Amino acid sequence: MKYDSMIIFSSRTGNTEKLAEKIFFSLPKHKKDIVRAAQWDAKVEANIYFVGFWVDKGDCPPDIAGILQALHGKKVALFGTCGEGDNPGYYEMLEGTVKKHLSEDNDYLGCFLCQGKMPMAVRARYENMLENAQDKAIVQKMLHNFDEGLLHPDERDLKNLERFVQECMEKITGK
Ligand SMILES: Cc1cc2nc3c(=O)[nH]c(=O)nc-3n(C[C@H](O)[C@H](O)[C@H](O)COP(=O)(O)O)c2cc1C
Repeated sequence: MKYDSMIIFSSRTGNTEKLAEKIFFSLPKHKKDIVRAAQWDAKVEANIYFVGFWVDKGDCPPDIAGILQALHGKKVALFGTCGEGDNPGYYEMLEGTVKKHLSEDNDYLGCFLCQGKMPMAVRARYENMLENAQDKAIVQKMLHNFDEGLLHPDERDLKNLERFVQECMEKITGK
């Protein structure tokens, strides 16, 4: 069986999973499937792929990189979450890095990125850094970014994602 669309995602702490579920419910009522990267079966095909990742040291995690490399002649959209909030320059750089895993024989539809919350252990690490930091302002900024992240992905992110999905579908149908 061939699906109209397939969402494949990797998520450790649930942020990217939230986006994946939103995409699933935003898509039209056609044959669609949603799977974690570990469950992906390359033999089950789809017309459109939405591939989701959490940002892992400036790139997507290896499981998603492998899946992107395995796709050929497909329509592919990317989506993901990262710790950094609302930073278009950084998001653009991430998109460029992750896109490199995708071969050029695919039809690339675009990338949606937003902030996701990080574990509290990260905040504790920042707090420790603050005590010994030469430039406390930088660490304060990191703490601020962390606290902002606790609210994401939020309703606005999900609305923006819904619009992104719509735009991807319009690119395909040529509307
Ligand atoms: C090992 C590791 C590396 C990370 N590297 C980055 C990074 O380079 N840039 C960034 O903005 N966020 C980074 N993050 C934060 C995650 O991308 C972010 O928390 C993401 O929303 C997690 O998504 P998930 O809940 O779907 O797993 C990293 C997190 C971990 C655990």
